[in-house]
Amino acid sequence: MFGQLKRRWNVNGFDLLLIIFTFAIGGSLCGFLGRQLLLITGLEKGLLWVVIYIIVMTLIWPLCVLVVSIPFGQLDFFRKYLLKIAQRMHLTQAKSTQIAIFASGAGSNADKIIQHLHGSGEKSIVVKLILCNKEGAGVLDIAKRHGIETVLIERERFFQGDHYLPVLRQHGIDFIVLAGFLWKVPAALIAAFPDKMVNIHPALLPKFGGKGMYGNKVHEAVIAAGEKESGITIHFVDEIYDHGKIVRQAKCSVDQGETPESLAKKIHSLEHKHFPEAISNLLNAK
Ligand code: GRF
Repeated sequence: MFGQLKRRWNVNGFDLLLIIFTFAIGGSLCGFLGRQLLLITGLEKGLLWVVIYIIVMTLIWPLCVLVVSIPFGQLDFFRKYLLKIAQRMHLTQAKSTQIAIFASGAGSNADKIIQHLHGSGEKSIVVKLILCNKEGAGVLDIAKRHGIETVLIERERFFQGDHYLPVLRQHGIDFIVLAGFLWKVPAALIAAFPDKMVNIHPALLPKFGGKGMYGNKVHEAVIAAGEKESGITIHFVDEIYDHGKIVRQAKCSVDQGETPESLAKKIHSLEHKHFPEAISNLLNAK
């Protein structure tokens, strides 16, 4: 249960503890203040008292947790938490986060991400654009199927030109997902999206990463090294190949007689399970 909460709120164990303390102390403070306020009214404890008590509690609870969150250093978390509740109750309008997916291949990850984000009905995270560097790649058909605009990336413009930054700006892109994108992203593009670009790697980084480590080459290297486990790594993108801060890892076994193809299958199903969820958790926690 705690692991699930850590993932959902994208916090570490220590912060989770402080958040739980804040909920507990903020809730008790709210109960205490609610009773004190009702004492002033001199009302008899009856149905009216209960109704007013519930209304008072609902109104002062957000205030109490916000105040208590300050000494625990969790103000930012609770500000966003309460904002999300207000959005769910349609009290405020959420600005949607617009994602661009960069992909080079079949696009099965892109497909799962779109299904997950667009299928949730939340409308707060939208895949706006798919950029691909390979004519005829499967991901282009997937984009078409979902009615998402595509851009075919030209090498020269991507590496030496404007890096497609004006295109991303025109579409109001706030976050970039690399889902099987085989070109190294230029430093200027990474700098324009600080902590707003994630990648998925089909192995447990820092092992089996770096230049030339993609697709079946990764699985061949894992098997050749006699590893008993492999897995996936979702990480922020920085200027070094497969290096940025890790968001999530998930493991699978490498069994006797495992082939790169059978391992690729296991890895793909891990990716499909974790990548969409990790992206929505990351963006919902922002
Ligand atoms: C995935 O295995 C991913 O880890 C790697 O490229 C593959 C893309 O697969 N970077 P798909 O195009 O999403 O099916």
